[in-house]
Amino acid sequence: MPTSRRRRLHPLPLRIMHWLNAVAMIVMILSGWGIYNDAVIIGGLHFGPLRLGSWAAESLLWHFAGMWFLAVNGLFYLGYGLLTGRFRERFLPITLADLRATLRDTLRLKLVHDDLTRYNAIQKILYIVVILAGIAQVVSGLAIWKPVQFSTLTWLLGEFQGARLVHFLGMAVIVGFLVVHVLLALLVPSTIRAMLTGGPRLPAPPPRPGAAP
Ligand code: HEM
Repeated sequence: MPTSRRRRLHPLPLRIMHWLNAVAMIVMILSGWGIYNDAVIIGGLHFGPLRLGSWAAESLLWHFAGMWFLAVNGLFYLGYGLLTGRFRERFLPITLADLRATLRDTLRLKLVHDDLTRYNAIQKILYIVVILAGIAQVVSGLAIWKPVQFSTLTWLLGEFQGARLVHFLGMAVIVGFLVVHVLLALLVPSTIRAMLTGGPRLPAPPPRPGAAP
């Protein structure tokens, strides 16, 4: 069977990485809130019982366990997206015309998602932003975890408190993304089915720029 007939919208490795990432992110967010509660950054903002680990040290253990899954799985996802051309194919190009049309539909509360094989401009931007936020979380996390070994990194991020702030803001971006992402996925359940089963089969990938015909 030619490769083009076997290609699915969400190939198995992508689905495994996506769901592992979802679990790891939730562990990281909830345990992060437990750690944050012990030394708040924004006075009055306290996550209370919404946490993993009943006290800071226990939350920290969850955070350290989750970080390995998140970082290793994230590296595989980045490598896979770059090497297979998935990022280029699914997230690019982002055109102004597409952005305008998507914004118009969104403001009219028109949820157009009948073609699962194409992300709209807002989806593309949100996915790129959340991938960058994930990278920022790992980098700022390293600066907070090992501020002596990664002293240059910590300094670049504005010392320990600056790195903490970057880590907090990255978390806020990811949580904001997650709320919209899960809500939209629930509103269009066929996208969740596709992320579980692979979704429709796709035609052969577009040729890489400069590749021989
Ligand atoms: C736990 C709840 C989650 C659910 C139910 C969910 C669901 C989905 C679904 C249905 C898609 C396919 C969208 C489509 O075809 O239109 C998708 C794609 C995606 N999701 Fe999630 N997701 C979850 C968590 C996350 C988290 C925590 C992140 C990252 C922080 C994330 C990042 C992404 C990205 C980057 C894609 C695009 C993947 C690609 O095409 O390479 N998701 N998600």
